Amino acid sequence: MDIHSEKVLILDFGSQYTQLIARRVREAKVYCEIHPFNSGLASVKAFKPKGIILSGGPSSVYDKGAPMIGREIFGLGVPVLGICYGMQLIAKLLGGKVERSNKREYGGADIVIENAGDLFNGLGSGPMKVWMSHGDRVEALPPGFKTIARSDNSAICAMGDAKRKIYGVQFHPEVVHTPKGDKILKNFLFQVCALKPAWTMKSFIETSIEDIRARAGEDRVVCGISGGVDSAVAALLVHKAIGARLTCIFVDNGVLRKNEADKVEATLKKSFHMNIRRVNASARFLKKLKGVEDPERKRKIIGGEFVRVFEAEAKKIKNVKFLAQGTLYPDVIESVSFKGPSATIKSHHNVGGLLKKMKLKLVEPLRELFKDEVRALGREMGMPDEIIDRQPFPGPGLAIRIIGEVTKKRCDILREADAIVLEEIKSAGLYKKIWQSFAVLLPIRTVGVMGDERTYENTIALRAVESVDGMTADWVKLPYEVMENISRRVINEVRGVNRVVYDISSKPPSTIEWE
Ligand code: XMP
Repeated sequence: MDIHSEKVLILDFGSQYTQLIARRVREAKVYCEIHPFNSGLASVKAFKPKGIILSGGPSSVYDKGAPMIGREIFGLGVPVLGICYGMQLIAKLLGGKVERSNKREYGGADIVIENAGDLFNGLGSGPMKVWMSHGDRVEALPPGFKTIARSDNSAICAMGDAKRKIYGVQFHPEVVHTPKGDKILKNFLFQVCALKPAWTMKSFIETSIEDIRARAGEDRVVCGISGGVDSAVAALLVHKAIGARLTCIFVDNGVLRKNEADKVEATLKKSFHMNIRRVNASARFLKKLKGVEDPERKRKIIGGEFVRVFEAEAKKIKNVKFLAQGTLYPDVIESVSFKGPSATIKSHHNVGGLLKKMKLKLVEPLRELFKDEVRALGREMGMPDEIIDRQPFPGPGLAIRIIGEVTKKRCDILREADAIVLEEIKSAGLYKKIWQSFAVLLPIRTVGVMGDERTYENTIALRAVESVDGMTADWVKLPYEVMENISRRVINEVRGVNRVVYDISSKPPSTIEWE
């Protein structure tokens, strides 16, 4: 079965939960894409969805400039589910009445099912907990619709026209605070839309391998790997497709973690016999970083140097026509962002120039996947947990964790301290539970005493944060014993450090990294 034929289109009206809807649909093994609400009827038709979901959004249907669609979408014969703002749109466009309210209903609520039908099939008869986050609400049903559920606060919490297969829910079935939300979404997918659960990592691998083979032909592909999960999984998938015609380039920029390059190289070579070229460019990077203290300059230097080293190495390989990259779906989505498009589109390594200069085409085998799917894909291909569960590590590496000038000596100090932090966090069983945990080397020295001698040495800051996506973060309340072990070991074992402090700032207003 074609994994892309059984699919759902999610039209985004700017809800913070739109990606969550997509993830729930994917978890139900149905392929879906998020498109902006204004992509147009022709593009909706061209996508050939078997179901359409209209997301929530921050607007009121009465706002000037509120995101709108034409009512023709309801005439396509494709089932539609509107969530929150999506439901209000349905009501407005199909002749119901939406009441404007300046007061938001936000939080948990109990709803009572009046008329289960397809959408609420099998949810039991008692009141059901749901998560609300809306201002306006539907006051009168459009012709042909029936009320599915009500609450004390709104007489119409869910509505549907079973004949035309158009449904709306006022609450958010995609969040965990609506415990039966998953069942409602599955009812929409499998009962209402009659979709088949074809989207599995196994079938994704088969399809991707065929695609990559067809695209690459007899040409060669290069891929930069960093030790992170995305690039490793992308490379492995391409390797499965074209074997030795893929060359991976691992640039050691001198600001990697302790033994990082060795470990990644050994794993990928030993387990998968991948063709990996490691370039030791430490000296070159450190030379460029000499005397540089400004964080953004450090980033630019490292980014620029990476591209140069990568290019020089890639040029040694004959017949290279493609560059493989681990771009993920969240980086691709052209979502409606009320903060402007730049808020949703992250720039990766600056490879634009490289592509042009070397006349390379991009292969991005993960561009349809969310992070959790990339992990599942890696696991399915037998990639070890050590790589799959790795905490994020910034491209500019230790350079942005050494406050002030980056020197070989300071890199070595930080590398040792950082290795101890990771060892202790891992042995306390916390590594996978924490978003990031690491050491930062501060540009101050303080007084200490060791034996009979006075010392005047460096300070290490310990940072551990919890986060879902890196956009916001809380500092972790590490157990005292773990902090104590880290502090004792760093001070005893790392030459040049006589003090460890703990960072208790959250993001915002701080950031995760110190630079
Ligand atoms: P901040 O410090 O902005 O970090 O709260 C958010 C997330 O982004 C990572 N980060 C980077 N990753 N290049 C990267 O590849 C960078 O220049 C960079 N700066 C921050 C950081 O580790 C965290 O996960």
